[in-house]
Amino acid sequence: MNYNIEELQDKIKTIANLPTLPHIASRLMRIVNSPTTSADTVATLVSQDISLSAKVLRLANSAFYGIPRSINTLNNAVIILGFKIIQTMVLSLTVFDMFNSDDDDAPAVFDRNAFWNHSLRCAVIARLLAHKRKRNYALDPEEAFCAGLLHDVGKVVMEQYLNLDFHKALHHARMNGMSSFEAEKEVLGYTHCDVASWLTGTWSLPDEIEQPLVCHHEPEDATICADAVMICHAADILSKIDADSPAAAEAAVAELDPKAKMLGLDARDLADVIGEIPAEMERASMLIKR
Ligand SMILES: [Fe+2]
Ligand SMILES: [Fe+2]
Repeated sequence: MNYNIEELQDKIKTIANLPTLPHIASRLMRIVNSPTTSADTVATLVSQDISLSAKVLRLANSAFYGIPRSINTLNNAVIILGFKIIQTMVLSLTVFDMFNSDDDDAPAVFDRNAFWNHSLRCAVIARLLAHKRKRNYALDPEEAFCAGLLHDVGKVVMEQYLNLDFHKALHHARMNGMSSFEAEKEVLGYTHCDVASWLTGTWSLPDEIEQPLVCHHEPEDATICADAVMICHAADILSKIDADSPAAAEAAVAELDPKAKMLGLDARDLADVIGEIPAEMERASMLIKR
């Protein structure tokens, strides 16, 4: 089965329930860069959702951000953490909630827990890589984290809305020992990266988050935000290695070496990042706790 792009876009448009970003996150994406937006505006917006507000406060006080004093109100959270962190935090929490349904009846072809664990691992590594980034470039580690967390969101959308296609591709990948990206291209003619681009087309995401979702398997295709895409691509590769296996880590570093050099990172930086993964995973894990 092969679709051309227009055919798939039509297919996607016909799916009435294709998720739009919920109101609060969507509005936040639109107002956060406006010079007239105040901390009060952001806090008032987030406070409209009690469950989201509680999660934001819980995370703001967690070891993940390492703020030495306690943050008791949303207003303080916005002032102390800043708009960018609140924006990426709300986006991460919202999209995770949108696609973390526990459907016991669903066939166990796609393991959602494993999916979100891989996504969180990629997010944590992307954040570490962005912190290590040596060239003089203002890549925000929190945007890198958010892009890492959402990089494969096209897969959960396919699982939910294009289920038959997705399972066909997963089966093809397993039978032929290839990546799901390659299998999707071969069997379907479109990939989870294409789906991500249609999904987020109306979400008003920052380019630094949207581009990695669309180009993380083919970073050379990125025409903008090349560094953000490369960090996500590198984090995706590193996330698949077992931190306890030095040989696997070495192999991943060797595979990444030429690309990492483009980011100004050397083998030692990558080894440092690999060493920091377990502790960072521990700190970040509350983000995907129910
Ligand atoms: Fe992917
Ligand atoms: Fe991935």
